[in-house]
Amino acid sequence: MTGETEKPFANDLRSFGRKRSRKPSPRQRHLMEDALPRLRLSLEALRKQPLSELFASSIAEVWLEVGFGGAEHLIHQASANPTVGLIGCEPFEDGVIKALTAIEQRGLRNVLLHPDDVRPLLRALPSACLSKAFILFPDPWPKTRHAKRRLVSKPFLDSLAEVMEPGAELRIATDIDAYARTVLEAAIPHPGFRWTARQPGDWRTPWPDWPGTRYEAKAHREGRRPMFLTFVRA
Ligand SMILES: C[S@@+](CC[C@H](N)C(=O)[O-])C[C@H]1O[C@@H](n2cnc3c(N)ncnc32)[C@H](O)[C@@H]1O
Repeated sequence: MTGETEKPFANDLRSFGRKRSRKPSPRQRHLMEDALPRLRLSLEALRKQPLSELFASSIAEVWLEVGFGGAEHLIHQASANPTVGLIGCEPFEDGVIKALTAIEQRGLRNVLLHPDDVRPLLRALPSACLSKAFILFPDPWPKTRHAKRRLVSKPFLDSLAEVMEPGAELRIATDIDAYARTVLEAAIPHPGFRWTARQPGDWRTPWPDWPGTRYEAKAHREGRRPMFLTFVRA
């Protein structure tokens, strides 16, 4: 799905697994061919128009969700916050189809999708345009030789810091201790972010507006305790 103007940089190691699992049904193909072009955040358009004008409804601020998976959280936040523009990024086609289905069923006008790697999008967004960003259960890449594929890293946080406004909130959830360590080792020394935790309960308790996600449910089923890390753009 990567278009000509949306290429990842050569040093963007692939951080996601499959892009599709099975052949789409005719309904799903229709969604991809008809709804997606209307709801896609075009990086070309971003260069010519203010971000807020690309949403179908009038919006007061913009939030970004990276790797929305089954779109449970994206759709929950978009439904609960109609004056917020939500940008959802997800390269996995089955997830994009789930988001498109829910957007159409609920008639949501405040969501745009980037059906691909978030990193080219981060480089195209205007500075300080986001007031919240969510990275919920990023692919863990548990094997040592794959750890370099983890999305959260110093260069990734550099790009994210550039597009988050001062005071903006960054929420990262993970159920993998080694990933939490990767996040904290990158974020704590980063001048662009401040970790808000004061006591362990702060990262063991989900956020008050948390609807749960498929991966969180899987973590609980498999006996892993999720961590909910909150940072503020300094
Ligand atoms: C483990 S899943 C979690 C999905 C969902 N957030 C949840 O909690 O159920 C991680 C998701 O991140 C997506 N992902 C990985 N790398 C990404 C990238 N560079 N840009 C956007 N999404 C990415 C994957 O395709 C996958 O769907």
